[in-house]
Amino acid sequence: MTKVTPWDVSGKLDYNKLIKDFGVKSIGKLPKQFTDNILFKRGTIFAERDFKHIIEAVENKKPFIMLTGLMPSGRFHIGHALIAKQMIFYQSLGAKIYIAVADIEAYNTRGKTLEELREIAIEEYILNYIALGLKPENVEIYFQSQRSQNANKASAYYRLQNQLSAHITFNEFKAVYGEVTPGKMVSALLQVSDILHPNLPEFEAKQIPIIVPVGIDQDPHIRITRDLAKRFKGAKFGPVCSTYNKFMPGLKGGKMSSSDPYSHIALTETPKEAKKKINKYAFSGGRETVEEHRKKGGNPDVDVSFQYLRMMFEEDDVKLAQIEKDYRSGKLLSGELKAILIEKMSTFLEGHHKKREKARSQLSKFIK
Ligand code: TRP
Repeated sequence: MTKVTPWDVSGKLDYNKLIKDFGVKSIGKLPKQFTDNILFKRGTIFAERDFKHIIEAVENKKPFIMLTGLMPSGRFHIGHALIAKQMIFYQSLGAKIYIAVADIEAYNTRGKTLEELREIAIEEYILNYIALGLKPENVEIYFQSQRSQNANKASAYYRLQNQLSAHITFNEFKAVYGEVTPGKMVSALLQVSDILHPNLPEFEAKQIPIIVPVGIDQDPHIRITRDLAKRFKGAKFGPVCSTYNKFMPGLKGGKMSSSDPYSHIALTETPKEAKKKINKYAFSGGRETVEEHRKKGGNPDVDVSFQYLRMMFEEDDVKLAQIEKDYRSGKLLSGELKAILIEKMSTFLEGHHKKREKARSQLSKFIK
């Protein structure tokens, strides 16, 4: 059985079916600024709600905001990098970037102290964002537990969260969240405030479109936000737009998870560790024996190493097409395909670790 909820993703994923089930739109034709990006050109970002406002803003050089939130839990892996790459991409297109550190949500649901969560947020997330290319200009990173030193701003953010509770019923909560706890309710309303507050008079003070890039499992949050934006009469918000990316598969298949080290490649891992994991665990679309593989060929569609190349590590379309062709025909063996990924991954990790150490001295430009 397939299950796709904000807390559980399991079973076989059929993205066309998910588009229908969630009532989102598949991504249509995009201007070149978007299709030059590997995530759009390879269809990793496959669906959207109201994305037209963002396309229009980009084409007409009008302001827009990209907002995301991070749960400081566990290690930052290449699946997390999908969202990080989108923030850096939107920043390059001129977006103002808002990043909410969901430390209140993590406190309410994961049982760590705010100090521990702050440390995880910085070490695992923010340093990696900077190393991946996030620039300090036009970025606001904030902790949910401490929105702003400016009392007017902080009040506006928490006031919105509190007032939103008047516009949602317990049954709606239950429909979206299943088992409802006080912690889940508070966190959910705070997350809606994360997404809506940039348009309040105390912040951007305009109705600017906001793009929230998420995995399709997070769509219930987006739906609630859009509904609440309409019901709340105290302020006018810009359009809440979203895109949905496919999941980075875990090494053994399924969704990549930070709690299972054998499912992910973390960005702080050494090239040697990554190599070992790929060789040992990466699910292969190859055949049982070399003879059979040569005769019948492999299946790149289910091969995890090929998916990593396609989604993130081989930007060159011509090279990727050649790898795919050779693998399908049986000319390229599973071990050889893994070696191509390992080579790319090692180069990436080595460069990334150097950038990550340099990022440390930049931190104060990002966190006030
Ligand atoms: N709930 C999100 C998660 O579990 C984190 C989050 C908090 C978030 N606020 C947000 C995501 C606003 C997107 C937009 O990862």
